[in-house]
Amino acid sequence: MDRVKVGFIGCGGIAQYHFGHFEKMKEKAQIVAACDLDESRAQKTVERFEGARKYTDYKVMFDKEKLDAVFVCVQPGAHDGMEFIAIEKGINIFCQKPMTLDLNYAKKVLNGIKKKKLISAVGLQCRYANTFDFLKNYLAGRISRNEIAILSCYRLGGFPMVWWWRRMKESGGQAVEQTIHNFDLCRYLFGEVVQVQSARRRGVITDIPDNDVDDASSTIMTFANGIIGTFNTGCFGAGPGDINAFARNGKIAIGLGGNYKIEEPNRVFEGRTSNDYGQECDETFIDAVRGEIDRDEILSPYSDAIKSLALTLAINESMDNGGMPVKPAL
Ligand SMILES: NC(=O)c1ccc[n+]([C@@H]2O[C@H](COP(=O)([O-])OP(=O)(O)OC[C@H]3O[C@@H](n4cnc5c(N)ncnc54)[C@H](O)[C@@H]3O)[C@@H](O)[C@H]2O)c1
Repeated sequence: MDRVKVGFIGCGGIAQYHFGHFEKMKEKAQIVAACDLDESRAQKTVERFEGARKYTDYKVMFDKEKLDAVFVCVQPGAHDGMEFIAIEKGINIFCQKPMTLDLNYAKKVLNGIKKKKLISAVGLQCRYANTFDFLKNYLAGRISRNEIAILSCYRLGGFPMVWWWRRMKESGGQAVEQTIHNFDLCRYLFGEVVQVQSARRRGVITDIPDNDVDDASSTIMTFANGIIGTFNTGCFGAGPGDINAFARNGKIAIGLGGNYKIEEPNRVFEGRTSNDYGQECDETFIDAVRGEIDRDEILSPYSDAIKSLALTLAINESMDNGGMPVKPAL
């Protein structure tokens, strides 16, 4: 296949991350169109990628371009139909997480992707850290995930200063917008979460105007296989945090980037991620669109990522209802 022709909708922060990856796979894919409501961002993108055309309206972009794939990189509250045009036109979709704040919208997108048999991926790139193959195998054997009694997890740090992040209606708050990565890894490693109970904390961050997101939240998760876990997350402090799994016969600590430490009764060992997992995430999608690999090699297709979205939206629902137990809607 010729180079995959890619259009971008949203040329902000995360798009720059993808752009770096595209520069390293020029022989496989070509950014031919860049769309952003902020014209200067679209302009900068077309200056960076020779031959790309600039748009400020994605409908015009879809009309004028013949794309093989679109990267949707707008903020969570700004998904207003672009995926449906892509589906209509048979364009494969890479969508940033969280793919929307409206689960019904996500379900419609998923239906369209399935109907048209499109290739999809979501930006839950941590799954591509090359330690996870080992960890998944390990959890199927030595200390099996069925032997794990409890998880104790946290994520701290980062109050992104983009305008929309501080608005619950635009970002969904930290659990949905940021900690979705960590919740996704919990699902990836330990199976589906069938119930959450969550409480929020506000009043800690007082110096950011127009801010209505939670400063912190604490969630109890019940997994289908019986594991119970707590997840504390706060948008202050340092460090992306850890998943700590405890069994009678050992303990496993896993970082967001895949570094791990395992303590068994008679040995302790550690592993470190050595690949560029963000690059791998994008390149796997592009390789699947090129037909060079099977689409099943995409670790976070829309059909799976929607379950992590449903999980985090259930956490918000529980917080909104005084910690009431909520079953994720998928
Ligand atoms: N996977 C990751 O690790 C990761 C990291 C950061 C951000 N993200 C996600 O990426 C998304 C974007 O975040 P960001 O930090 O790049 O935000 P950003 O504000 O820097 O960029 C978003 C861009 O989308 C543009 N936009 C909004 N609506 C549009 C529309 N209708 N048409 C064209 N352009 C439109 C905005 O003008 C803006 O330039 C969010 O969902 C965020 O959660 C993912």
